Amino acid sequence: MPDFKRTLITAALPYVNAPSHVGHLAGCYLPADLYARFKRLRGEEILFICGSDELGAAITISAEKEGVTPQVIIDRNHTLNKASFEKLGISFDYYGRTSSATHRETAQQFFLTVHDGGYLIPREVPQLYDEEAKMFLPDRYVEGTCPVCSNPNARGDQCERCGTYLDQTELIEPRSKVSGTKPVLRATKHWYFALSRFQNQLEDYVESHRRDWKDNVLQGARSWLKAGLQDRPITRDLTWGIPVPLEGAEGKVLYVWFDAPIGYISATKEAHPPDWQTWWQDENTRWVAFLGKDNIVFHTILFPAMLMAYNAAKAGAGSNPSSLIPHPSSFESSFILPDNVPANEFMNLESQKLSKSRGWIIELHEMLERYPADVIRYAIATMLPEQKDSDFTWREFQAHVNNELADIFGNFANRVLTFASKHFENKIMGNRKELDVAGNALLAGFGMRAKDIADLYERFRLREATSETMDLARSANKYFNDAEPWKLIKSDKEEAAKVIRSCLEALRALAIYFAPITPDASKRILSTLGSDGSEENWDNAHEPKLHGQVVLGPIEILFHKIEDETVAEEVKRLETMAAKVDAVGAGVGAHHADSALSTSGATMVAPEHSALISIDDFKKIKLRTALILEAERVPKSKKLIKLQISLGDEKRQIVAGIGEKYTPEQLVGKMIVVVANLKPAKLMGQESNGMLLAVNDENGVVSLVAPEWASPDGLEVR
Ligand code: MF3
Ligand code: ZN
Repeated sequence: MPDFKRTLITAALPYVNAPSHVGHLAGCYLPADLYARFKRLRGEEILFICGSDELGAAITISAEKEGVTPQVIIDRNHTLNKASFEKLGISFDYYGRTSSATHRETAQQFFLTVHDGGYLIPREVPQLYDEEAKMFLPDRYVEGTCPVCSNPNARGDQCERCGTYLDQTELIEPRSKVSGTKPVLRATKHWYFALSRFQNQLEDYVESHRRDWKDNVLQGARSWLKAGLQDRPITRDLTWGIPVPLEGAEGKVLYVWFDAPIGYISATKEAHPPDWQTWWQDENTRWVAFLGKDNIVFHTILFPAMLMAYNAAKAGAGSNPSSLIPHPSSFESSFILPDNVPANEFMNLESQKLSKSRGWIIELHEMLERYPADVIRYAIATMLPEQKDSDFTWREFQAHVNNELADIFGNFANRVLTFASKHFENKIMGNRKELDVAGNALLAGFGMRAKDIADLYERFRLREATSETMDLARSANKYFNDAEPWKLIKSDKEEAAKVIRSCLEALRALAIYFAPITPDASKRILSTLGSDGSEENWDNAHEPKLHGQVVLGPIEILFHKIEDETVAEEVKRLETMAAKVDAVGAGVGAHHADSALSTSGATMVAPEHSALISIDDFKKIKLRTALILEAERVPKSKKLIKLQISLGDEKRQIVAGIGEKYTPEQLVGKMIVVVANLKPAKLMGQESNGMLLAVNDENGVVSLVAPEWASPDGLEVR
């Protein structure tokens, strides 16, 4: 591995179709910031880049839902996200947006270079077309069953569940998200990126990182390579995007996953106009790309291949695959590839998947209204989904904040400063060298352990780095307890002064070690100790530095504890948002609410913020009582149960996501309520002709909705 001079750190550009939430923070932005701050503390040269992903179907769909222009959506959420990240102390050096002119030019130029190199091939191909809405259905405009994992809600370009990067024509049972109808195939022209030609190079690239990439990332990349790469269309029939800069391509734009990663480059150009190439085209620069699970394929396969194609085209290799490796003389103008892609898995919320449409979500801006940035940062750092999905619960949030942040780190700061103020006139007494023996040992220990923690940061084990950092504070508290300065002060004031000096040095060092995690608290501690932090460095933080006779600043409580009532309120807030008698089981029936939109901007199913409905709206929904005649589990599914039900004059099959709560035996003979006029759907290959009603709580479905008294089946529910 070459010795890198500098590190480019990127965090995936968030879509601005909706405000960023706590899942994004845990998946991508906090880890990226922990790493960036740590690197800066070591005195390394870094550039930390992010920005808004503002083009493509995600944005137009949101705009249509609200009945406003895409511009309104992107301006609102760009501003909101940028402010949230600032408040959270996410220390981007530059935050761009893909609607900028620089980005448009950069992406178009990139397209043309790759095109002229022969890697973009126009093809007349059948695409999904909605005859009712009279439009092609790019990306998120169509959903269907994933051919790989059978997720019934896979999108046109990607299955979010298994991460597979799809061609929309591969979807099983596609349905239009605009009209709900089944789309037909219609020919249109698109440019295909010759991804398949990079199979070997990508395999070499991925395998060259088999020792330094995380398991989840390697596994993802390898499985796509194993399946064999196919050429993919990278243009779309949409208006909201970067126009394809070719004649005969009117009305077509670049696929959002073609332009967005180029956004990292255009943002760097905007941040550093004269020397952006230092960050992108210099082999001494190392690029570390932070992102969430669903972005892995785009950063380990698609974008690296795009960069390889660009490099080859620039090097004049043209479309000759044998010379795809750039010639050494042209190396300087070659783009670097990600050196590491420390992607995280997902974080759930109170044991359920986050879902905007179900209200099961905590948006960053609202969380920041109630909690200080440091508290959020620390708690999330202890719950990062690094190896596998993690679970955020308000109880644990409280426990980490109260029992660790406040009781250990905060408490140490408080008792040391209080003691110094009470017994030493708020001054740092004595000489810098004069620490007691145990105090010296404590700091020496910090020095050794800080090396191990640094190693954890470098291996992206940030959750462990956080708990090891808290352990340092734990040992500082232990030192204070063992030294018993409150006794010493009576017998040997000079020795007590040494102990307190040791404690103050330890507190200063802790402020450095905690600085990536709790930057505000660290700053406050350092300023109380009379340091502006400018001389501080991770590697020498354990060396005594405080000047004697400095008057300590005021003592403030660093972290306030979270009350039990607050936790209860938070849980209740979530439940009220989500509590509605809704589709059965998260992720199974819920797609009905998620997928409801129309081109006119009106939603077909009322989302959580919608206005009141009229009795006529309600009458459109036919609810009827039904008797369960038979029940059996759907093979290979924990959740799904197939039911044969009777609606009086009619028998039907429905599939319900209640298998975690009920056994088939418990269900037979029960009277339930179903939505009788729902469009039929297929769930894991099983026809479902209606939907039963059930009450959800934070653990999933808890109880079926049923008439209070025995009643015949098939009656209308009004
Ligand atoms: N907008 C995408 C998301 O939120 C991420 C884009 S990352 C980039 O999932 F590489 F394209 F910038
Ligand atoms: Zn899938």
